[in-house]
Amino acid sequence: MRNILRDPQPVLDELRETYGPVVGLGAGPMRMAIVGEPDALRELFSTPVDAFKWGHKFNVLGFVVGDGSMIVSDGPDHKRRRASVLTAFSRRRLNGWIPTIVALTDEAIDELGAPTVPVDMYRFGRKLILHIVVRTIFGARMAERADEFGDLFERPQAYLESPALRQLPHRIPYTRRARVRADRAAIDAIIDGEIAHHRANPETDPESLLAALVTNEGLSDAEIRDQVVTLIGAGYDTTSASLAWMLWRATLTPGVWDRLRSEADQQLGDRVDEPVLARLEYANHVMRETLRLHPAGVIAPREAATDVAIGKYTITKGTLILWSAYLAGRDPEAWPEPLRFDPDRFADADARTRAETAWVPFGRGARNCIGFALAQMELTLIIARVAQRLDLVPVTSTVPRPVGMVVNRPEGGAPMRVTVRKEEEHADG
Ligand code: HEM
Repeated sequence: MRNILRDPQPVLDELRETYGPVVGLGAGPMRMAIVGEPDALRELFSTPVDAFKWGHKFNVLGFVVGDGSMIVSDGPDHKRRRASVLTAFSRRRLNGWIPTIVALTDEAIDELGAPTVPVDMYRFGRKLILHIVVRTIFGARMAERADEFGDLFERPQAYLESPALRQLPHRIPYTRRARVRADRAAIDAIIDGEIAHHRANPETDPESLLAALVTNEGLSDAEIRDQVVTLIGAGYDTTSASLAWMLWRATLTPGVWDRLRSEADQQLGDRVDEPVLARLEYANHVMRETLRLHPAGVIAPREAATDVAIGKYTITKGTLILWSAYLAGRDPEAWPEPLRFDPDRFADADARTRAETAWVPFGRGARNCIGFALAQMELTLIIARVAQRLDLVPVTSTVPRPVGMVVNRPEGGAPMRVTVRKEEEHADG
């Protein structure tokens, strides 16, 4: 049980090998259920959400995102908080950001210059995706503070990955926990300044979700801050880990980079319009295939608030349910040769149908990932543009070991030798 919360992947593989994809662990007040079988997951996601609790005692996220965050709340509080930010994720609004996402990717590529030493493309992606998330959700003004947010989030995110014992609540000064509390206070101070700006200048920045949140009488300032921290924190750590895995897989699997590039050369010209996303079909399949093998959340926790029946199993009240997109994505019944990286498995209609239950990197149902469409859009556009403009050669020829329990990422990042492709080599899209 200790290992599963520290380094989950090898434990999940071993448990599945020995017992199958649905496993109960522990005894007495400390019980866990691993659920990684696609049909069982379909049942789990269609069970009414009041059968579960997200604000449970093992939810360590609350220390960083705040007790008022939707991600650790339940019932009417959760509904109200989630509803307050939904406008930022409407399909129409997201589609409007497509040219900006490509433009920000171009800026990040231009900033690379002509590097003579390997570049950590994981770091490259973190910075880029942080800027995209802050810009698209909170507007240009807040985006100017994106690097400050990045620095202030580093320590809290590392702390959430530290062993559970280190994270026991206390208020002892000069400890890692105290420093994380101070980082969160500094983040809050920036957000408070922005809240004050929007109150003083109402309706001047319709691009910013914050402009809408400050007019929402159902939310306290503390709740506004917690949702902002949640969206930034959850929005870039996960997506940039996924981009790093995509870069590893796409450069190490023969043929993938060339196909990404020729599709991008055909579809992604200098003028980028909204329909381009639908035309980047191969990039979309590379994204899906990467998230199948490397979902950012290997396990996601919720507590059973009542006894819950899943298939032939009863999960008793109080059990910590760890559902696993990782196990579902590697289920040998659902995916032929599950460990093979093959984006073309998403090209056929049968695979798409199977994916309905076995492809769940964003969860499903009322508590699914609120940023699922934004994340997929970013990953597809970024990989296409990067393949179009850069030659990347990883410094090693094997996919790294995964690390991270809250967010699963490649150990050591993604160090790669980078050559910028000459302008005249681009076919005109
Ligand atoms: C590849 C990128 C991402 C992955 C794999 C991912 C995955 C997930 C998963 C597995 C959940 C939990 C579902 C559950 O508990 O059942 C979740 C929840 C959430 N995600 Fe994401 N996510 C990603 C990107 C994003 C982005 C871009 C944002 C926002 C900008 C975001 C915001 C959230 C929020 C706020 C929740 C909590 C929703 C709620 O409790 O109602 N995520 N995500």
